[in-house]
Amino acid sequence: MIIAVDGHAASGKGTIAKRVAAHYNLAHLDTGSLYRSVGMGMVKRGEDIRDVALATAAALNLQAEALSEDEIRSEAAGTAASVVAAYEDVRAALKRFQRAFAENPPGGKTGAVIDGRDIGTVIWPNAEAKLFVTASLDVRTDRRVLELQQRGAILNWAEIRADLADRDERDENRPVSPLLQAEDAYLLDTTKLDIEAAVAAAIAVINARLGQP
Ligand code: CDP
Repeated sequence: MIIAVDGHAASGKGTIAKRVAAHYNLAHLDTGSLYRSVGMGMVKRGEDIRDVALATAAALNLQAEALSEDEIRSEAAGTAASVVAAYEDVRAALKRFQRAFAENPPGGKTGAVIDGRDIGTVIWPNAEAKLFVTASLDVRTDRRVLELQQRGAILNWAEIRADLADRDERDENRPVSPLLQAEDAYLLDTTKLDIEAAVAAAIAVINARLGQP
């Protein structure tokens, strides 16, 4: 069983996906961390993220463990991720990884919850349930600022807001696998929901899709 959770930056999709995976005892794959590792790995090695050949090589040799959690979660990593995520060859390399995970989830699990931008549209169009998670830009900015502050980062609210807006615009307008709500995805707007309410809403929708009470 595959559950696809796509949506905007800082919409809460990562937390929702993790909690939904625990609820159904499924594996969880945060595909954003793959793109973040490719982009941030290049930045750390002093490589130009506009170089498609280098970005493709980085995606083919992906080693997530080479970066710390703080490096991967930084806004710089998010921005670098959204640049390399527009390259067709980078997406093809990471697609192989994502499909292998879905076909053979680790830990003997019977399925996976996969979160990203194109899971329900490109990576696994036959997912048993699909969510598209969003929230207003201001609320997403508040959440990302809080998350980064908890990691000890010093930041500016307006800059983070501009960053998220740029990233949405790049993700929605790239020609390859743009961020797009699948026709059969449920739109979950978390603007007015705290995390508990958002997770409860996600589980209710998924139960309905799976035909469970
Ligand atoms: O956590 P946040 O929502 O800020 O971002 P993320 O899910 O970690 O993804 C970082 C960036 O990677 C996104 O802005 C996308 O450009 C890219 N990405 C993608 O293109 N496709 C995916 N399946 C996942 C992430």
